[in-house]
Amino acid sequence: MRSLCRVLVVGLAVIVATGAVVEVVPPSKGNPSYATRKGLVAPQTDISSIVSVVRNVNQKGGAAPDDLPNQEVAETIVTAVDGRVTESGPSSSEKSSELKTPAIRRALEDYRVLFWGTGVQSEDRDASVEGTAYLTHTLVPNTTYNVEACLDYCSSVEGCVFANLYYEFNNYWLDFETPDKSNLKCALYGDVHGEEEKTNYGGQQSYLAPAPLIYIQQSSGFVLDGGAVDPQPETPEGYALVFESDKATEAPAYMEFFLLDKYDVDTCARECNQHAPDSIGGVCQFFNIWRAVIDGVPVTYVCVLFSLPTDEATAIYPGEDDVQVTLSRGYMRQNLVIDGGFEAYDGCLDFCYEEAYEHWIGTSPAGGKDDATIFRAAMYARTAQTVGLLGSATGADSFAGTLTPANTLTTIEGRVYKVALFQNSAYSGPTFQKDSFLEILWNGEVVKTVRPGYSDWAFVEAEVVAEGDDVVEIRGGKAPAWTFVDDIGVWLL
Ligand SMILES: *[C@@H]1O[C@H](CO)[C@@H](O)[C@H](O)[C@H]1NC(C)=O
Repeated sequence: MRSLCRVLVVGLAVIVATGAVVEVVPPSKGNPSYATRKGLVAPQTDISSIVSVVRNVNQKGGAAPDDLPNQEVAETIVTAVDGRVTESGPSSSEKSSELKTPAIRRALEDYRVLFWGTGVQSEDRDASVEGTAYLTHTLVPNTTYNVEACLDYCSSVEGCVFANLYYEFNNYWLDFETPDKSNLKCALYGDVHGEEEKTNYGGQQSYLAPAPLIYIQQSSGFVLDGGAVDPQPETPEGYALVFESDKATEAPAYMEFFLLDKYDVDTCARECNQHAPDSIGGVCQFFNIWRAVIDGVPVTYVCVLFSLPTDEATAIYPGEDDVQVTLSRGYMRQNLVIDGGFEAYDGCLDFCYEEAYEHWIGTSPAGGKDDATIFRAAMYARTAQTVGLLGSATGADSFAGTLTPANTLTTIEGRVYKVALFQNSAYSGPTFQKDSFLEILWNGEVVKTVRPGYSDWAFVEAEVVAEGDDVVEIRGGKAPAWTFVDDIGVWLL
């Protein structure tokens, strides 16, 4: 009987109406005519587009003649998004209100001279640095060539790894308007710049003409030992450092790239956290940050997002011609749900199901049977071999079941998280799936309800606030309106 109908009803579950009782081949029978999986075509990293933007960006800066000293370091600016140059502005609403000080105190011995400037004879002319990752500047007492005060200032500013100390003459503003009464400028950078980057010779008219123009003398560079940029950036919350390399990631599930004006892993992580989901991995789950160097000079900092995690094996792009990849780091976003894709369920080779295994527990309401189960059945899974099912696997009842991780989540109280998953409610066709529904519960409270009816794999998400040791539950299914769930995650925002 069944096999006959299978021939008649192609592509959907076999549906046999016997009087008022509807009979559909339940998922437990391993319906071979039904396959949920669609070929997901994951986009590859658009490395050539990244490099062409890298070649054309100008993020060099320094202390302009009338810039105020001792300003807080500006938020990292995102200057290009996927090749489109953006408004110059902070990438997020978060703004730090005070000058951040580095966690580790530094001493004078932690710095060394990279280059000395010219002398201070009247004919000596020098230039100050114009380079990437300019942070801020100060005026140090000019009774001596005050290297120590300058490096102390660098030590007090988070992210400072390089200081350029120089005299700026004929700047009316320095001579008369500033309380510091000093023309000895100390400019700080979050990256190291060489002598070849001394390109600002002054030349501005600061005093009323015909007075002489601004000129620079004794422009020296001091570098924090340990190399370019922050030698050991703190891993952003919610992430794990996966690799450090001199090659950039070229992996599938590429989402987008950004150019930053500083090597700032936190800003890259924030872009990842805030990125809109895609149909491959859902949320952003991995980022690669690297420093682009052209002819030995740092030009920008590249932040690339991916919706699937990867590792050093895909860090394969060394740069090309004049563009060199340096300080490449990969960070994986941590999923608080252990085995969110049920992959560790291995009760059989290719077809079996269970109400629970090590990482997930399915429960049915009183009187229900197998209302939430885990399947090893590639034809039902969105990715790999395994998938969760809500609604009686055998079709024995029409109750909703609940899937929950076996362990509570290691959340931080008060922090905002995103619960994300993919759901599919297409199994028994448009008619029988019309009542399908799915709920996300957080500590017993429904935080999201979707009634997708008949739906192919679709992304579902909810934002929640953690109490610590939180419990997430996925409830739904109303056989024959079954709901498959896969690739479940809880992510720190
Ligand atoms: C120190 O800076 C002040 C203000 O620009 C300037 O008037 C003075 O001549 C400078 N002293 C030296 C020794 O350069």
